[in-house]
Amino acid sequence: MDRMRIGYLGYGSYIPSVVVTNEDLERIVDTSDEWIQQRTGIQTRFVMNKNESVLQMAVEASKRALADAGLSPDDIGDIRVGVNTWNRFPSLATQVQYALGTKESSASDVSAGCSGFIYAVEDAFNKIVIEKMKYGRDVKTLVIGVDGLSLVVDWTDRTTCVLLADGAGAVVMGRTEDNEILATCTEAAGKYGDLLYLDEFLNNQLTGENQVCFSNEKKIDRPFLHMQGKKVFPVAVRTMISNMKKVIERYNASSSGEPIRLTDVEYVFPHQANLRIIKAIADFMKMPLESIYTDGIKKYGNTSAASIPIGYVDTLGKVKGKIVIDVAFGSGFASGAILRRA
Ligand code: ACO
Repeated sequence: MDRMRIGYLGYGSYIPSVVVTNEDLERIVDTSDEWIQQRTGIQTRFVMNKNESVLQMAVEASKRALADAGLSPDDIGDIRVGVNTWNRFPSLATQVQYALGTKESSASDVSAGCSGFIYAVEDAFNKIVIEKMKYGRDVKTLVIGVDGLSLVVDWTDRTTCVLLADGAGAVVMGRTEDNEILATCTEAAGKYGDLLYLDEFLNNQLTGENQVCFSNEKKIDRPFLHMQGKKVFPVAVRTMISNMKKVIERYNASSSGEPIRLTDVEYVFPHQANLRIIKAIADFMKMPLESIYTDGIKKYGNTSAASIPIGYVDTLGKVKGKIVIDVAFGSGFASGAILRRA
């Protein structure tokens, strides 16, 4: 069988409408623009208004990705959503399917912290391969990374509320000659679970009256995100570096072509958690910061599972043809990487 090239057919993103500046945060917690920029790189972040939602952001990003691919919802055979802020059933993916009007597709969510998009791409890739090799079907998949962390942020906790934000990004995946996913890897380290976690959900707490998007009114009837940022930081750097090495090793072990070395990588999309984490990756890669996506953390803050596909849209055309690594880590210390020819 000929080598099956699988890649991205279209890209879309959605940034919600409410901008929250560092000065806005100075008004609700004891912080400063200077501290936030020095320690995180973040200048602004965006959160949902009362009419926006995790579902609506996912649907808008998906419509844009489908339009970019020149495809209709009926062309999609599978929908995967990396999300952490949809803690109920039916799954977000099924509701995206319904909203788009996709006639026949499977649909499921992936819960892997900020690495949800990487996990979802890997799942979609495997699905496309299996459907073709075992059943002779050509399947196109819609892969979404979305989160509404403003819904679970404690807006009285300065150590987290300055970092986190909302957004969505999506890609359509399928067989193509235009670009190619060369390898993926994923892993997890559950022992770090207590460094970054969300309180238990008791009921349908993320809608209606409980949807507190940007407010310092601490509501006791909803879950809150907790993070020991200082402890997360070094593990995040180590984990992202090991994932970048591993995805290259996996490609080289599975390919009969020219091996790829770390120095062949021309661009990196790291999860946008903190500019200092991204700079540590640049140092390790001996790459100039211009070859690493950083606009996301500056403009949008940490949008969790959405940060990498939002980056794709922000850099469209800039990375064409380059050898690229996407790399993420997140809660549960679920992490992963994708090696691509963009
Ligand atoms: N404004 C002003 N001061 C602050 C703020 C703030 N917003 N937040 C904390 N401080 C104070 C602290 O209280 C501390 O004061 P103290 O020395 O008097 O005790 C001081 O600043 C230094 O705090 P540190 O925690 O040491 O600051 P650090 O340089 O580590 O930066 C940060 C904190 C930004 C959270 C950093 O540790 C980080 O980015 N960690 C990784 C976070 C991350 O990547 N998380 C993954 C998210 S993925 C997901 O799934 C959501």
